[in-house]
Amino acid sequence: MEVNKDISLKTYNTFGIDAKAKFFVEVNSLNDLKSALQLKGYPEKFILSGGSNMLITNDLNALVLHINLKGKEVVSENDDTVRLKVLAGENWHQMVLYTLERNYGGLENMSLIPGNTGTAPIQNIGAYGVELKDTFVSCEAMHIETQTLKTFSKEECRFGYRDSFFKNEGKGRYVIVSVTFELTKRNHKKNTSYGAIEAELEKKGITDPTIKDISNAVIAIRQSKLPDPKVLGNSGSFFKNPVISAEAYRKFSQQHPDAPSYKVSEEAYKIPAGWLIEQCGFKGKKFGDAGVHKNQALVLVNYGNASGDEILNLAYKIIEEVDHRFGIRISPEVNIIK
Ligand code: EPU
Repeated sequence: MEVNKDISLKTYNTFGIDAKAKFFVEVNSLNDLKSALQLKGYPEKFILSGGSNMLITNDLNALVLHINLKGKEVVSENDDTVRLKVLAGENWHQMVLYTLERNYGGLENMSLIPGNTGTAPIQNIGAYGVELKDTFVSCEAMHIETQTLKTFSKEECRFGYRDSFFKNEGKGRYVIVSVTFELTKRNHKKNTSYGAIEAELEKKGITDPTIKDISNAVIAIRQSKLPDPKVLGNSGSFFKNPVISAEAYRKFSQQHPDAPSYKVSEEAYKIPAGWLIEQCGFKGKKFGDAGVHKNQALVLVNYGNASGDEILNLAYKIIEEVDHRFGIRISPEVNIIK
C-alpha cells in the first residue's frame, strides 16, 4: 500500500472540483483499510468512495483513503429471494444492472444513481418511490478508531429520508465495507406508481412491465432530466426537499395553489425544492462556471472550472432567496467539505 502525495481529486468527485489531497492511498482490501487506518504521523483521515455526494471547497490537508473494495456474493437464497452481499467500492448502477441480468428485483427504480454501493446507506439513497432501506438487510462497517468490524442491522442504521445513523451519531466513526440486500427472484414487488414511470411505460406501450422495463424507464427519465456527471459535473440533488408542518402547508398552498407537494403524514408535507428554486428564477442560470441545471433546478452544476466555493456561494444565494420568497429554509443534501 503506497501513500501518494498531492493528488488532484478532480476525477474522484462527480462535481469535478479540482482540489488536492495532501496524502492519498488506494484501499483494495480489508487489510489495506486496517493498515491505512493505523498509519501514524499523517493529518486526519478522510474516507472517499464514489465522490458523488460531496462538494469539496478546499484542498484537503488529510490522508485520503479511496475505498476500492470490489466483489459481490450470494450469501443465501431460496425459491423466492436472494441475499446479495456487495462490497463498498462496487459502482451502484453497475451493481443494479448485475442484479437485473439475474432477474433479481428490488433495485430497478434506483437505476443510474451515481456513486458506489458502500455510501448508499449513509444517505439512504432513493428514487421513484423506492429507497435503499426497502431491500437493505445489513451492512458491515469498520470502526475507524479500533479497526474492528461491526454488522449493522436495518434498525441500527436508523434510516430516514436521505438520512441514517451514519450521517448523525455515526458520522466520521465508521467506514462501510459491504452492504447486503434481499432481492426477489419471482413475484417482484414492482413500483410503477410514480407518474413519470407510468408515462414512460405508456409511451413504449408496455402494460405489464418486467423489472428490466422499469429500470429502462427510470434510465430514460433520469437521462432526460439529470445531467451525466461525466459530461457536466454535478452531485445529483444538491438540496433536500423541505418538510413543513400541516399548519405551514395550509398557508403555503393557499398562496401557491399550483405548487406540487406530497403528504408525508397528518402533520407534515414535503414541497419539491426544485419547484421553489425554479419559482425564484434560478433554473438554467449560470454564475461564472457554477450554475443551476436547465432541466432540474434541484441540481447544481459545474460548467468546467468552478471552485467548490463558487458552487457553495450559489447554494447560499439560493437558500436565502427561497427563504425570502417562501419563508421555507432548504438545506443541502450533499456533504460540504470545508
Ligand atoms: N419541479 C419543478 N422544477 C424543477 C424540478 C422539479 O417544478 O426544476 C417539480 C416537478 O415538476 C415535480 C416535482 O417538482 O412536480 C418533483 O420533481 P421530481 O420528480 O424531478 O423529483 P424531486 O423531488 O425534484 C426527488 C429526489 C431525486 C429523485 C427524484 C425522483 C430528493 C432531494 N431528490 O427529486 O433524487 O431522483 O425525486 O424520485 O429527494 C438525488 O437525490 O440526487 C436525486 C436525483
